[in-house]
Amino acid sequence: MKPLRLYLAPIRGITDWVFRTCFAQFFQGLDLSVAPFIATVQANRFTIKLLKDLLPENNQKMPVVPQLLGKSAEDFIRLARALYDLGYDCVNWNLGCPAPMVARKGRGSGLLLYPEKIEAFLESVVPAIPNRLSIKTRLGRTQPAEIQTLMTIFNRFPLKELIVHPRTGSQIYTGQPDLEMFAWCCENSQNPLVYNGDIVDTHSFQELFKRFPEIHGWMIGRGVVADPFLPAEIKAQPPVPPTEKVAIILKFHDALYESYSSLFAGPAHLTDRMKAVWQYLHRSFEGGEKFVKRIRKCRHTETYQQTVQDFFVQGPIYKDNKSLQE
Ligand SMILES: Cc1cc2nc3c(=O)[nH]c(=O)nc-3n(C[C@H](O)[C@H](O)[C@H](O)COP(=O)(O)O)c2cc1C
Repeated sequence: MKPLRLYLAPIRGITDWVFRTCFAQFFQGLDLSVAPFIATVQANRFTIKLLKDLLPENNQKMPVVPQLLGKSAEDFIRLARALYDLGYDCVNWNLGCPAPMVARKGRGSGLLLYPEKIEAFLESVVPAIPNRLSIKTRLGRTQPAEIQTLMTIFNRFPLKELIVHPRTGSQIYTGQPDLEMFAWCCENSQNPLVYNGDIVDTHSFQELFKRFPEIHGWMIGRGVVADPFLPAEIKAQPPVPPTEKVAIILKFHDALYESYSSLFAGPAHLTDRMKAVWQYLHRSFEGGEKFVKRIRKCRHTETYQQTVQDFFVQGPIYKDNKSLQE
């Protein structure tokens, strides 16, 4: 049987280098992470600061693939080369971002409506960069069948891998992943395929694995932030007792909080970042919904810390079955 490859999905505002490092300190099971996107810029706006999430000294604990979002081949090539100089032999192109602001500018999933532009981009970029290219895409901008045209283009290039989130961009996260169309991708992709979308527990993973046992890898985003033990459980590593899980999540939280405290200038940045993590992580706990409502109201670091302390002092109960619904 093929080894199981699990990737952390990029979640902008959460899975930055601090999160990735703290994750690797307390949890297991992930083979790689794709970093949240960096928007490409013109030459006169490029500074090394843009790449701060990817500085090698901050990324020693987990293998990382940088991700770029943009439609200009020239700007992409410049950044990909800079990333190669930092040691990244693979870069990922974001063709999936559904955010209306991004899509309207013809970036991310907005570009999926223009297969000819994607083809021209790949013709310029693939031979010009020293890195291997991987692509993260949705099935289309508005119709799942758009992938059929897109696939003929992707197949013309030797991609490191093609990561597919089987929704359209305009769906954002509504509806179910279109597994019929993903099955079509499995039959028709000539590049190694990675599945991404709505894996929240071992059950949802097993169902997908039974249906697509041959694919190259599995990418999980919200499900890992909601339950950081999930990758290890999927890989059938020795189980951790629930009370121990709660203690480890608290240590993970404290490590995140401490690292962000030393990085962020103002208290609002710090509490906002922790709120973003809790938006998913609260799902690990019975009664997590009430707790996260209190967290969302915290304006100051003191009230935030007190709210977290009060919650953990009560001995919260770890919850096994997660969902992506609020
Ligand atoms: C808040 C948020 C930020 C995201 N940021 C990125 C990003 O920077 N790049 C990207 O390719 N996908 C991004 N995604 C999409 C995820 O990588 C992933 O494709 C999506 O959440 C579906 O996978 P999941 O169900 O395992 O979470 C983001 C998703 C969310 C919810």
